[in-house]
Amino acid sequence: MSKKRKLSSEAYKGVRDFYPEDQALLRYFSTIQRGVVERFGYEEYHASILEPTELYREKTSEEIFNEQMYTFTDRGGREVTLRPEMTPTVARMIAKRRRELGFPLRLYSIPNVFRYERPQRGRLREHWQLNVDFFGSESLNADAEIIHVAHAIMSAFGATESDFTIQVSSRTFLNERAQKLNLSEDRLRALRTHLDQRDKMTLQQFNEGIEAFGILPDSLFPDFPPKDVAEVLQLLEEQGIKNAIFAPHIVRGFDYYSGVVFEIFDTNPDNNRALFGGGRFDNLLELFDDEHIPAVGFGMGDVTLRDFLETRGLLPPYLPTTQVYIAVPSLACIPQAQELCNFLRSQGVNVAIDFGEKKLADQIRTASKHAIPYLIVVGETEISSGSFVIRDLRSGEEHTYTRQQLPAFFLMA
Ligand code: HAM
Repeated sequence: MSKKRKLSSEAYKGVRDFYPEDQALLRYFSTIQRGVVERFGYEEYHASILEPTELYREKTSEEIFNEQMYTFTDRGGREVTLRPEMTPTVARMIAKRRRELGFPLRLYSIPNVFRYERPQRGRLREHWQLNVDFFGSESLNADAEIIHVAHAIMSAFGATESDFTIQVSSRTFLNERAQKLNLSEDRLRALRTHLDQRDKMTLQQFNEGIEAFGILPDSLFPDFPPKDVAEVLQLLEEQGIKNAIFAPHIVRGFDYYSGVVFEIFDTNPDNNRALFGGGRFDNLLELFDDEHIPAVGFGMGDVTLRDFLETRGLLPPYLPTTQVYIAVPSLACIPQAQELCNFLRSQGVNVAIDFGEKKLADQIRTASKHAIPYLIVVGETEISSGSFVIRDLRSGEEHTYTRQQLPAFFLMA
Protein backbone atom coordinates (compact mmCIF):
# COMPACT_ATOMS: atom_id res chain seq x y z
CA MET A 1 0.00 0.00 0.00
CA SER A 2 1.21 3.46 -0.81
CA LYS A 3 2.20 5.51 2.22
CA LYS A 4 1.39 8.75 0.46
CA ARG A 5 -1.34 10.76 2.14
CA LYS A 6 -4.53 10.45 0.12
CA LEU A 7 -6.39 13.54 -1.01
CA SER A 8 -9.64 14.47 0.67
CA SER A 9 -12.67 13.92 -1.54
CA GLU A 10 -14.52 16.79 0.13
CA ALA A 11 -15.39 19.83 -1.98
CA TYR A 12 -13.89 23.19 -1.01
CA LYS A 13 -15.58 24.65 2.09
CA GLY A 14 -18.96 26.23 1.40
CA VAL A 15 -19.33 25.08 -2.22
CA ARG A 16 -21.28 22.10 -3.52
CA ASP A 17 -20.68 19.22 -5.88
CA PHE A 18 -23.62 18.64 -8.17
CA TYR A 19 -24.24 14.91 -8.63
CA PRO A 20 -26.86 14.06 -11.28
CA GLU A 21 -29.76 14.44 -8.80
CA ASP A 22 -28.52 17.90 -7.78
CA GLN A 23 -27.75 18.95 -11.32
CA ALA A 24 -31.22 17.82 -12.39
CA LEU A 25 -32.70 20.12 -9.75
CA LEU A 26 -30.56 23.04 -10.86
CA ARG A 27 -31.72 22.37 -14.40
CA TYR A 28 -35.34 22.22 -13.22
CA PHE A 29 -34.92 25.58 -11.45
CA SER A 30 -33.50 27.24 -14.54
CA THR A 31 -36.11 25.70 -16.85
CA ILE A 32 -38.93 27.15 -14.73
CA GLN A 33 -37.16 30.50 -14.32
CA ARG A 34 -36.38 30.84 -18.03
CA GLY A 35 -39.93 29.95 -18.95
CA VAL A 36 -41.38 32.70 -16.76
CA VAL A 37 -38.94 35.50 -17.54
CA GLU A 38 -39.06 34.81 -21.27
CA ARG A 39 -42.85 35.06 -21.16
CA PHE A 40 -42.32 38.58 -19.79
CA GLY A 41 -39.99 39.40 -22.68
CA TYR A 42 -36.56 39.17 -21.00
CA GLU A 43 -33.54 38.06 -23.09
CA GLU A 44 -30.62 36.06 -21.78
CA TYR A 45 -27.03 37.35 -21.51
CA HIS A 46 -23.93 35.92 -19.91
CA ALA A 47 -20.42 36.99 -18.89
CA SER A 48 -17.21 35.65 -17.39
CA ILE A 49 -16.86 34.80 -13.71
CA LEU A 50 -13.73 36.98 -13.63
CA GLU A 51 -13.97 40.75 -13.28
CA PRO A 52 -11.42 43.45 -12.52
CA THR A 53 -11.60 44.12 -8.77
CA GLU A 54 -12.08 47.84 -9.31
CA LEU A 55 -15.59 47.15 -10.65
CA TYR A 56 -16.70 46.61 -7.05
CA ARG A 57 -14.61 49.25 -5.30
CA GLU A 58 -17.03 52.16 -5.31
CA LYS A 59 -20.53 50.82 -5.34
CA THR A 60 -21.19 47.44 -3.90
CA SER A 61 -21.59 46.75 -0.20
CA GLU A 62 -18.93 47.39 2.40
CA GLU A 63 -19.40 43.91 3.79
CA ILE A 64 -18.96 42.28 0.40
CA PHE A 65 -15.99 44.39 -0.66
CA ASN A 66 -14.07 44.15 2.62
CA GLU A 67 -14.96 40.68 3.82
CA GLN A 68 -16.51 38.51 1.17
CA MET A 69 -14.76 38.86 -2.16
CA TYR A 70 -12.52 36.23 -3.68
CA THR A 71 -9.76 38.41 -5.06
CA PHE A 72 -6.33 37.48 -6.42
CA THR A 73 -3.55 38.96 -8.47
CA ASP A 74 -3.14 37.37 -11.88
CA ARG A 75 0.23 36.58 -13.50
CA GLY A 76 0.22 39.97 -15.14
CA GLY A 77 -0.19 41.78 -11.81
CA ARG A 78 -3.89 42.65 -12.32
CA GLU A 79 -6.33 42.46 -9.43
CA VAL A 80 -9.08 40.02 -10.32
CA THR A 81 -12.28 39.08 -8.46
CA LEU A 82 -14.66 36.15 -8.80
CA ARG A 83 -17.98 38.00 -9.22
CA PRO A 84 -19.84 38.24 -5.87
CA GLU A 85 -22.99 39.34 -7.74
CA MET A 86 -24.04 40.08 -11.32
CA THR A 87 -25.35 43.64 -11.12
CA PRO A 88 -22.01 45.47 -11.64
CA THR A 89 -21.27 43.13 -14.57
CA VAL A 90 -24.54 43.77 -16.36
CA ALA A 91 -24.20 47.51 -15.68
CA ARG A 92 -20.73 47.42 -17.25
CA MET A 93 -22.07 45.53 -20.28
CA ILE A 94 -24.91 48.02 -20.77
CA ALA A 95 -22.57 50.99 -20.44
CA LYS A 96 -20.22 49.51 -23.04
CA ARG A 97 -22.90 49.16 -25.73
CA ARG A 98 -25.43 51.74 -24.63
CA ARG A 99 -25.55 53.37 -28.07
CA GLU A 100 -26.52 50.17 -29.86
CA LEU A 101 -28.80 48.67 -27.22
CA GLY A 102 -32.38 49.90 -27.50
CA PHE A 103 -34.18 50.95 -24.32
CA PRO A 104 -36.22 49.94 -22.44
CA LEU A 105 -34.23 46.74 -22.28
CA ARG A 106 -35.13 43.56 -20.38
CA LEU A 107 -32.32 41.13 -19.54
CA TYR A 108 -31.77 38.00 -17.49
CA SER A 109 -28.94 35.64 -16.63
CA ILE A 110 -28.32 32.70 -14.31
CA PRO A 111 -24.68 33.03 -13.20
CA ASN A 112 -22.86 31.39 -10.31
CA VAL A 113 -21.57 33.99 -7.86
CA PHE A 114 -19.03 33.73 -5.04
CA ARG A 115 -19.00 35.23 -1.56
CA TYR A 116 -16.72 34.32 1.30
CA GLU A 117 -19.50 33.86 3.86
CA ARG A 118 -19.71 31.67 6.92
CA PRO A 119 -21.50 28.63 5.45
CA GLN A 120 -24.89 28.05 7.12
CA ARG A 121 -28.48 27.22 6.21
CA GLY A 122 -29.35 29.36 3.19
CA ARG A 123 -25.82 30.79 2.86
CA LEU A 124 -22.94 29.27 0.94
CA ARG A 125 -19.78 30.46 -0.77
CA GLU A 126 -21.03 29.73 -4.26
CA HIS A 127 -24.62 29.90 -5.43
CA TRP A 128 -26.51 30.21 -8.68
CA GLN A 129 -28.45 33.40 -8.92
CA LEU A 130 -31.15 34.29 -11.42
CA ASN A 131 -30.77 37.99 -12.24
CA VAL A 132 -33.65 39.81 -13.88
CA ASP A 133 -33.13 43.48 -14.72
CA PHE A 134 -35.02 46.21 -16.55
CA PHE A 135 -32.98 49.12 -17.98
CA GLY A 136 -34.02 52.51 -19.28
CA SER A 137 -37.28 53.21 -17.48
CA GLU A 138 -38.04 55.57 -14.61
CA SER A 139 -41.63 54.37 -14.47
CA LEU A 140 -42.81 52.64 -11.32
CA ASN A 141 -44.51 50.25 -13.73
CA ALA A 142 -41.04 48.81 -14.25
CA ASP A 143 -40.54 48.30 -10.48
CA ALA A 144 -43.96 46.65 -10.31
CA GLU A 145 -43.20 44.45 -13.33
CA ILE A 146 -39.96 43.24 -11.76
CA ILE A 147 -41.83 42.25 -8.58
CA HIS A 148 -44.59 40.72 -10.69
CA VAL A 149 -41.98 38.53 -12.43
CA ALA A 150 -40.66 37.41 -9.03
CA HIS A 151 -44.19 36.55 -7.93
CA ALA A 152 -44.85 34.64 -11.17
CA ILE A 153 -41.67 32.60 -10.64
CA MET A 154 -42.82 31.59 -7.17
CA SER A 155 -46.21 30.56 -8.57
CA ALA A 156 -44.54 28.56 -11.34
CA PHE A 157 -42.69 26.56 -8.67
CA GLY A 158 -46.03 25.69 -7.10
CA ALA A 159 -45.97 28.24 -4.24
CA THR A 160 -49.17 29.91 -3.12
CA GLU A 161 -49.40 33.44 -1.74
CA SER A 162 -49.52 32.20 1.85
CA ASP A 163 -46.09 30.56 1.41
CA PHE A 164 -44.16 33.81 0.95
CA THR A 165 -44.36 37.57 1.45
CA ILE A 166 -43.03 40.31 -0.75
CA GLN A 167 -41.60 43.01 1.50
CA VAL A 168 -41.31 46.36 -0.20
CA SER A 169 -39.69 49.56 0.96
CA SER A 170 -37.80 52.49 -0.52
CA ARG A 171 -34.43 54.14 -0.11
CA THR A 172 -35.97 57.57 -0.70
CA PHE A 173 -37.22 57.85 2.86
CA LEU A 174 -33.90 56.90 4.47
CA ASN A 175 -32.04 59.28 2.15
CA GLU A 176 -34.34 62.17 3.07
CA ARG A 177 -33.91 61.40 6.77
CA ALA A 178 -30.14 61.31 6.37
CA GLN A 179 -30.21 64.69 4.67
CA LYS A 180 -32.30 66.23 7.46
CA LEU A 181 -29.91 64.77 10.03
CA ASN A 182 -26.89 65.99 8.07
CA LEU A 183 -25.40 62.48 7.87
CA SER A 184 -22.35 62.31 5.61
CA GLU A 185 -22.33 59.79 2.73
CA ASP A 186 -19.97 57.56 4.76
CA ARG A 187 -22.15 57.68 7.88
CA LEU A 188 -25.25 56.91 5.81
CA ARG A 189 -23.43 53.95 4.28
CA ALA A 190 -22.52 52.68 7.75
CA LEU A 191 -26.10 53.16 8.93
CA ARG A 192 -27.41 51.17 5.95
CA THR A 193 -24.97 48.36 6.65
CA HIS A 194 -26.23 48.28 10.24
CA LEU A 195 -29.88 48.27 9.16
CA ASP A 196 -29.24 45.53 6.61
CA GLN A 197 -27.82 43.28 9.33
CA ARG A 198 -30.98 43.42 11.43
CA ASP A 199 -31.52 39.68 11.39
CA LYS A 200 -28.02 39.05 12.77
CA MET A 201 -28.73 40.74 16.16
CA THR A 202 -31.30 41.22 18.91
CA LEU A 203 -33.80 44.06 18.71
CA GLN A 204 -31.98 45.79 21.54
CA GLN A 205 -28.62 45.62 19.77
CA PHE A 206 -30.31 46.83 16.61
CA ASN A 207 -31.86 49.84 18.34
CA GLU A 208 -28.65 50.68 20.20
CA GLY A 209 -26.81 50.59 16.89
CA ILE A 210 -29.21 53.18 15.48
CA GLU A 211 -28.92 55.35 18.58
CA ALA A 212 -25.14 55.33 18.10
CA PHE A 213 -25.80 57.49 15.03
CA GLY A 214 -27.64 59.97 17.24
CA ILE A 215 -30.97 58.82 15.80
CA LEU A 216 -34.08 57.71 17.68
CA PRO A 217 -34.96 54.27 16.26
CA ASP A 218 -38.67 55.14 16.20
CA SER A 219 -38.08 58.15 14.01
CA LEU A 220 -36.16 56.23 11.37
CA PHE A 221 -38.90 54.17 9.80
CA PRO A 222 -42.13 55.65 8.49
CA ASP A 223 -45.47 54.20 9.60
CA PHE A 224 -46.98 54.64 6.16
CA PRO A 225 -45.50 53.67 2.84
CA PRO A 226 -43.64 56.45 1.02
CA LYS A 227 -45.20 57.57 -2.27
CA ASP A 228 -43.18 55.27 -4.57
CA VAL A 229 -43.88 52.20 -2.42
CA ALA A 230 -47.59 53.01 -2.18
CA GLU A 231 -47.82 53.29 -5.94
CA VAL A 232 -45.95 50.05 -6.58
CA LEU A 233 -48.17 48.22 -4.07
CA GLN A 234 -51.21 49.64 -5.86
CA LEU A 235 -49.89 48.49 -9.26
CA LEU A 236 -49.22 45.03 -7.86
CA GLU A 237 -52.72 44.83 -6.50
CA GLU A 238 -54.06 45.68 -9.95
CA GLN A 239 -52.14 42.64 -11.21
CA GLY A 240 -53.90 40.47 -8.63
CA ILE A 241 -50.89 40.22 -6.29
CA LYS A 242 -52.04 40.20 -2.68
CA ASN A 243 -48.99 39.22 -0.64
CA ALA A 244 -46.90 42.37 -1.15
CA ILE A 245 -46.59 44.56 1.94
CA PHE A 246 -44.79 47.69 3.04
CA ALA A 247 -41.83 46.63 5.21
CA PRO A 248 -40.04 49.79 6.41
CA HIS A 249 -36.98 47.96 7.79
CA ILE A 250 -35.94 46.59 4.38
CA VAL A 251 -33.01 48.74 3.22
CA ARG A 252 -30.75 46.26 1.29
CA GLY A 253 -27.00 46.19 1.78
CA PHE A 254 -25.79 47.46 -1.60
CA ASP A 255 -24.74 51.08 -2.09
CA TYR A 256 -26.22 51.31 -5.56
CA TYR A 257 -29.91 51.07 -4.69
CA SER A 258 -31.65 54.38 -5.10
CA GLY A 259 -35.42 53.92 -4.81
CA VAL A 260 -37.85 51.04 -4.30
CA VAL A 261 -36.19 47.99 -2.70
CA PHE A 262 -37.73 44.63 -1.92
CA GLU A 263 -37.06 41.17 -0.55
CA ILE A 264 -39.15 38.01 -0.67
CA PHE A 265 -39.32 35.85 2.44
CA ASP A 266 -40.54 32.37 3.14
CA THR A 267 -43.38 32.46 5.68
CA ASN A 268 -41.87 29.35 7.28
CA PRO A 269 -39.53 30.70 10.00
CA ASP A 270 -37.09 27.80 9.51
CA ASN A 271 -36.01 29.47 6.28
CA ASN A 272 -35.26 32.93 7.52
CA ARG A 273 -33.05 34.04 4.64
CA ALA A 274 -34.48 36.08 1.78
CA LEU A 275 -35.37 34.16 -1.37
CA PHE A 276 -35.10 37.24 -3.59
CA GLY A 277 -33.58 40.66 -3.16
CA GLY A 278 -33.71 43.61 -5.49
CA GLY A 279 -34.61 47.16 -6.19
CA ARG A 280 -34.05 50.26 -8.25
CA PHE A 281 -30.45 51.28 -9.01
CA ASP A 282 -30.75 54.41 -11.11
CA ASN A 283 -27.22 55.70 -10.53
CA LEU A 284 -25.03 52.63 -10.92
CA LEU A 285 -24.40 53.13 -14.63
CA GLU A 286 -22.93 56.54 -13.89
CA LEU A 287 -19.81 54.70 -12.73
CA PHE A 288 -19.01 54.21 -16.41
CA ASP A 289 -20.05 57.47 -18.05
CA ASP A 290 -22.29 60.46 -17.59
CA GLU A 291 -25.29 59.03 -19.36
CA HIS A 292 -28.19 58.41 -16.99
CA ILE A 293 -29.69 54.95 -17.43
CA PRO A 294 -32.26 54.08 -14.78
CA ALA A 295 -32.58 50.42 -13.82
CA VAL A 296 -34.46 48.05 -11.57
CA GLY A 297 -34.05 44.33 -10.97
CA PHE A 298 -33.58 41.42 -8.59
CA GLY A 299 -31.49 38.37 -7.79
CA MET A 300 -32.90 34.99 -6.70
CA GLY A 301 -30.60 32.29 -5.34
CA ASP A 302 -30.84 28.53 -5.77
CA VAL A 303 -29.91 27.67 -2.16
CA THR A 304 -32.84 29.41 -0.49
CA LEU A 305 -35.15 28.30 -3.29
CA ARG A 306 -34.23 24.67 -2.68
CA ASP A 307 -34.80 25.04 1.08
CA PHE A 308 -38.16 26.66 0.39
CA LEU A 309 -39.34 23.94 -2.01
CA GLU A 310 -37.97 21.14 0.19
CA THR A 311 -39.77 22.45 3.27
CA ARG A 312 -43.05 22.37 1.36
CA GLY A 313 -42.60 19.10 -0.50
CA LEU A 314 -42.52 20.97 -3.81
CA LEU A 315 -39.29 19.48 -5.15
CA PRO A 316 -39.91 17.21 -8.15
CA PRO A 317 -38.72 13.60 -7.77
CA TYR A 318 -35.49 12.80 -9.59
CA LEU A 319 -35.91 11.34 -13.05
CA PRO A 320 -32.72 10.78 -15.04
CA THR A 321 -32.70 11.83 -18.67
CA THR A 322 -31.87 8.21 -19.62
CA GLN A 323 -35.17 6.49 -20.40
CA VAL A 324 -34.10 2.90 -20.85
CA TYR A 325 -31.22 0.64 -19.87
CA ILE A 326 -30.20 -2.25 -22.10
CA ALA A 327 -28.88 -5.28 -20.20
CA VAL A 328 -27.08 -8.20 -21.85
CA PRO A 329 -26.97 -11.73 -20.42
CA SER A 330 -23.91 -12.67 -22.51
CA LEU A 331 -21.08 -10.80 -24.18
CA ALA A 332 -22.01 -12.37 -27.53
CA CYS A 333 -25.19 -10.28 -27.59
CA ILE A 334 -23.43 -6.91 -27.42
CA PRO A 335 -23.28 -6.22 -31.19
CA GLN A 336 -27.06 -6.75 -31.59
CA ALA A 337 -27.75 -4.84 -28.39
CA GLN A 338 -25.66 -1.93 -29.75
CA GLU A 339 -27.61 -2.07 -32.96
CA LEU A 340 -30.90 -1.84 -31.01
CA CYS A 341 -29.52 1.12 -29.02
CA ASN A 342 -28.61 2.97 -32.19
CA PHE A 343 -32.04 2.29 -33.65
CA LEU A 344 -33.73 3.67 -30.51
CA ARG A 345 -31.41 6.71 -30.48
CA SER A 346 -32.22 7.42 -34.11
CA GLN A 347 -35.87 7.58 -33.01
CA GLY A 348 -35.13 10.05 -30.21
CA VAL A 349 -34.94 7.67 -27.25
CA ASN A 350 -32.25 8.20 -24.55
CA VAL A 351 -30.67 4.81 -24.01
CA ALA A 352 -27.65 3.43 -22.13
CA ILE A 353 -26.14 -0.03 -22.60
CA ASP A 354 -24.45 -2.33 -20.09
CA PHE A 355 -21.35 -4.13 -21.42
CA GLY A 356 -22.09 -7.31 -19.55
CA GLU A 357 -19.22 -7.22 -17.07
CA LYS A 358 -21.53 -8.23 -14.24
CA LYS A 359 -24.30 -10.79 -13.84
CA LEU A 360 -27.69 -9.88 -15.29
CA ALA A 361 -29.21 -9.33 -11.82
CA ASP A 362 -26.43 -6.83 -11.04
CA GLN A 363 -26.95 -5.04 -14.32
CA ILE A 364 -30.61 -4.58 -13.42
CA ARG A 365 -29.62 -3.34 -9.97
CA THR A 366 -27.38 -0.72 -11.61
CA ALA A 367 -30.31 0.53 -13.70
CA SER A 368 -32.47 0.79 -10.56
CA LYS A 369 -29.71 2.57 -8.64
CA HIS A 370 -29.55 5.16 -11.40
CA ALA A 371 -33.35 5.47 -11.22
CA ILE A 372 -33.66 4.67 -14.93
CA PRO A 373 -37.36 3.86 -15.37
CA TYR A 374 -37.21 1.09 -18.00
CA LEU A 375 -35.09 -1.92 -18.80
CA ILE A 376 -34.79 -4.20 -21.82
CA VAL A 377 -32.79 -7.43 -21.71
CA VAL A 378 -31.24 -8.22 -25.09
CA GLY A 379 -30.34 -11.94 -25.11
CA GLU A 380 -30.32 -14.77 -27.64
CA THR A 381 -34.10 -15.34 -27.35
CA GLU A 382 -34.97 -11.69 -27.93
CA ILE A 383 -32.57 -11.41 -30.84
CA SER A 384 -33.90 -14.49 -32.60
CA SER A 385 -37.59 -13.78 -31.93
CA GLY A 386 -37.36 -10.02 -32.60
CA SER A 387 -39.66 -9.31 -29.67
CA PHE A 388 -38.51 -7.45 -26.58
CA VAL A 389 -39.83 -7.12 -23.04
CA ILE A 390 -39.90 -3.63 -21.57
CA ARG A 391 -39.76 -3.84 -17.79
CA ASP A 392 -40.92 -0.88 -15.73
CA LEU A 393 -38.34 -0.92 -12.92
CA ARG A 394 -40.58 1.09 -10.60
CA SER A 395 -43.71 -1.08 -10.80
CA GLY A 396 -42.22 -4.35 -12.07
CA GLU A 397 -44.80 -4.35 -14.89
CA GLU A 398 -43.72 -5.93 -18.17
CA HIS A 399 -44.91 -5.55 -21.76
CA THR A 400 -43.75 -7.27 -24.93
CA TYR A 401 -43.19 -5.33 -28.16
CA THR A 402 -41.68 -5.84 -31.56
CA ARG A 403 -38.55 -3.87 -32.35
CA GLN A 404 -40.58 -1.46 -34.50
CA GLN A 405 -43.03 -0.76 -31.67
CA LEU A 406 -40.38 0.12 -29.09
CA PRO A 407 -39.75 3.80 -30.00
CA ALA A 408 -43.47 4.64 -29.83
CA PHE A 409 -43.62 3.20 -26.31
CA PHE A 410 -40.88 5.58 -25.12
CA LEU A 411 -42.28 8.56 -26.92
CA MET A 412 -45.59 7.97 -25.10
CA ALA A 413 -44.05 7.06 -21.70
P1 HAM B 1 -28.60 39.79 -2.83
O1 HAM B 1 -29.72 40.12 -1.92
O2 HAM B 1 -27.23 39.89 -2.28
O3 HAM B 1 -28.77 40.74 -4.09
O4 HAM B 1 -28.80 38.34 -3.41
C1 HAM B 1 -29.99 37.96 -4.03
C2 HAM B 1 -30.38 36.58 -3.57
O5 HAM B 1 -29.31 35.68 -3.79
C3 HAM B 1 -30.68 36.44 -2.08
O6 HAM B 1 -31.99 36.78 -1.79
C4 HAM B 1 -30.43 34.95 -1.88
O7 HAM B 1 -31.51 34.18 -2.39
C5 HAM B 1 -29.25 34.70 -2.78
N1 HAM B 1 -27.97 34.76 -2.05
C6 HAM B 1 -27.20 35.84 -1.79
N2 HAM B 1 -26.09 35.50 -1.14
C7 HAM B 1 -26.12 34.17 -0.96
C8 HAM B 1 -25.26 33.20 -0.37
N3 HAM B 1 -24.10 33.53 0.18
N4 HAM B 1 -25.63 31.90 -0.40
C9 HAM B 1 -26.77 31.52 -0.98
N5 HAM B 1 -27.63 32.37 -1.56
C10 HAM B 1 -27.33 33.69 -1.55
C11 HAM B 1 -27.89 40.83 -5.13
O8 HAM B 1 -26.96 40.10 -5.28
C12 HAM B 1 -28.26 41.91 -6.14
N6 HAM B 1 -27.12 42.06 -7.07
C13 HAM B 1 -29.54 41.53 -6.84
C14 HAM B 1 -30.00 42.51 -7.88
C15 HAM B 1 -30.10 42.30 -9.22
N7 HAM B 1 -30.38 43.76 -7.65
C16 HAM B 1 -30.73 44.34 -8.80
N8 HAM B 1 -30.55 43.44 -9.77
